[in-house]
Amino acid sequence: MKKRIAVLPGDGIGEEVMSQALRVLEAIEDRFGHEFEKVHGLVGGAAFDRYGSHMPNETLDQAYNSDAILFGSVGGPVADMNLPKWKNCEANSILNLRKTFKFNANFRPVKIFPELQDISPLKAEVIQKGVDMVFVRELLGDCYFGEHKQFTENGKRFGTDQIIYDEDQVSSIAHVAFKASRNRRKKVTSVDKANVLDSSKLWRTVVTEVSKDYPDVQLEHMLVDNCAMQIIRDPSQFDVVVTTNMFGDILSDAAAVLPGSLGLLASASLNKDGFGLYEPPGGSAQDIAGTGTANPVAQILSVAMMLRYSFALEEEAAAIEQAVSAALSSGCRTRDIFTKSTSSESPTKLVNCEEMTDEVLSYLKRPALV
Ligand code: IPM
Ligand code: MG
Repeated sequence: MKKRIAVLPGDGIGEEVMSQALRVLEAIEDRFGHEFEKVHGLVGGAAFDRYGSHMPNETLDQAYNSDAILFGSVGGPVADMNLPKWKNCEANSILNLRKTFKFNANFRPVKIFPELQDISPLKAEVIQKGVDMVFVRELLGDCYFGEHKQFTENGKRFGTDQIIYDEDQVSSIAHVAFKASRNRRKKVTSVDKANVLDSSKLWRTVVTEVSKDYPDVQLEHMLVDNCAMQIIRDPSQFDVVVTTNMFGDILSDAAAVLPGSLGLLASASLNKDGFGLYEPPGGSAQDIAGTGTANPVAQILSVAMMLRYSFALEEEAAAIEQAVSAALSSGCRTRDIFTKSTSSESPTKLVNCEEMTDEVLSYLKRPALV
């Protein structure tokens, strides 16, 4: 297969984890005989330094002319940290991409790796019930793209943001969620705040209507405050969680801590034509940027998601996921997931970003072992 990929590493740890993920992609090309052209572009603070924009047209053009976008992370720095625009670096680049390419569906899988149970903040008995869910977050509606404004009335300052959904936006994401659940445990939890918000009342009505097309899938509705609690109390009850833009933003971060590190999670944003952007949602981690200690797993798993969702290369995606599991089972740990092993049978070893990838590659290059 021949495909072109826009590679946008961004800022902070973006560049170092991306270069490791590309080594994994190259190993896939060698093993399975594919050819991926990688077109590198600047986004975020890195782009602002060069073009004066967090999402320059040059980069958008590269993305337009590609079959998928592999994204790192954004978040400064730029030469002048006091620039007002810097504050909006993430929003300017990520929201711009979402709007330009109409990415309406965001997939954020959260799974606890059995090898890493000890670093999860959850109790062993909770983990043993199995934690394997995916957030399907609507990405173009809600208060994100409604009207935002600040104004002064009678000497008092106000700030207001409009929450808005139309029924097509809701039914579209509901179909995505129900379809996704058919490849999983066939349960959809729709999360809203229908006891207060009209946008949520519409959401609940439309999701219920769409559910009639999927009689084999179990649908439940849950209020967002309860859901936040259930994610910590008993995450095993969730399979597919479909929710609004803002609630998805918050809940997916809460759930992201369950596996023990943000450095272990990948995500996909897709539009209705199946064009996709793949990124680790963990952020640019400026504090450890350049130290070579970042965890490359999230970026490597983003490559796996890209192969699966954009190119339908299931075997290749699974090979990466299995190699990552094998590397973790072998005891390799970057600093964010390192704990000294108490058992001599399963010793852990502290490794850096490159060594972690070396370990993944060692399994990927030995097909018989994975
Ligand atoms: C995310 C981020 C973004 C969002 C920010 C950076 C605009 O938090 O992808 O979850 O709120 O969607
Ligand atoms: Mg977020």
